[in-house]
Amino acid sequence: MSSLSSFAAISRPPSSLKRASFPSRQSSHFAFASQNRLCRFGIKCSYAESSVTEDSKSATIDVVADVKTERLVVLGGSGFVGSAICKAAVSKGIEVISLSRSGRPTDSSSWVDQVTWIPGDVFYANWDEVLVGATAVVSTLGGFGSEEQMKRINGEANVVAVNAAKDFGIPKFILISVHDYNLPSFLLSSGYFTGKRKAESEVLSKYPNSGVVLRPGFIYGRRRVDGFEIPLDLIGEPVERILSATESFTRPLSSLPASDLLLAPPVSVDDVAFAVINGVTDDDFFGIFTIEQIKEAAAKVRV
Ligand SMILES: NC(=O)c1ccc[n+]([C@@H]2O[C@H](COP(=O)([O-])OP(=O)(O)OC[C@H]3O[C@@H](n4cnc5c(N)ncnc54)[C@H](OP(=O)(O)O)[C@@H]3O)[C@@H](O)[C@H]2O)c1
Repeated sequence: MSSLSSFAAISRPPSSLKRASFPSRQSSHFAFASQNRLCRFGIKCSYAESSVTEDSKSATIDVVADVKTERLVVLGGSGFVGSAICKAAVSKGIEVISLSRSGRPTDSSSWVDQVTWIPGDVFYANWDEVLVGATAVVSTLGGFGSEEQMKRINGEANVVAVNAAKDFGIPKFILISVHDYNLPSFLLSSGYFTGKRKAESEVLSKYPNSGVVLRPGFIYGRRRVDGFEIPLDLIGEPVERILSATESFTRPLSSLPASDLLLAPPVSVDDVAFAVINGVTDDDFFGIFTIEQIKEAAAKVRV
């Protein structure tokens, strides 16, 4: 259940009331209920009615609303998945801060101006600057390279980030991990997968009741490389549709080793981004999420 906002009217005005005088500065009061997530607004209103007796001319309504003010830190917000997350978060009115070595991307879209871009390496980050006031952190850190490089960026970089967020008291950590493609264990021992699983364990052990691990397969969308857009959706979208349409025929094959290299459905970068937004706004959304569950979570918050 989303806790984005909850609203409780403690007492209601009589139904015959015709005019409500809305809260003035004097009649409203504000109290911060929790340091990171909730601001509690208490509002008092007075109501007046010409046809009622002098005694009952005014009634008081107390309204208490918990409004969650979200501040999301995106580690790698300048990347392919990270920028889709930043864009989706901005579209939902969430404040966004990105940390990446390159800082602000060259993209001139209007949402880019609404993100705070901090240039920096996760291994040497000034966390006081990055994490202050954050309600959630999402890490898109990961990639390919030598065995050592893959262990470092998929594993150690995320371990550093999880611990920084935990030490800072950030209540939620979301990790973009990867589907295991049903690979035999000797292939899962590569630096890429061992790094990912190390990062997952860190998230789930430090955030047992709020940590989110998303395991997408191939992610498609428009990837920007050196100022050019590569339309991965021209491949990803039709493959996703074909696999979905043929799912009942291909399901028996899914127990075969590595079969998911062909059968795991691609997922759009926007679905991954909106699944992250669902994780940010829904306190009941935590644990490990498969490709299908990522799509379901995205559908809940997509407009
Ligand atoms: N793309 C896919 O199909 C796919 C599929 C499954 C899972 N995933 C996972 O999804 C995640 C995002 O993938 P992606 O395709 O969006 O990758 P990407 O485009 O390469 O983005 C990675 C981001 O991390 C930043 N970064 C890298 N090293 C950093 C460091 N030391 N300090 C701070 N920032 C750093 C990069 O910016 P700088 O280089 O400027 O620092 C970039 O913004 C990865 O973990 C990947 O394994 C991707």
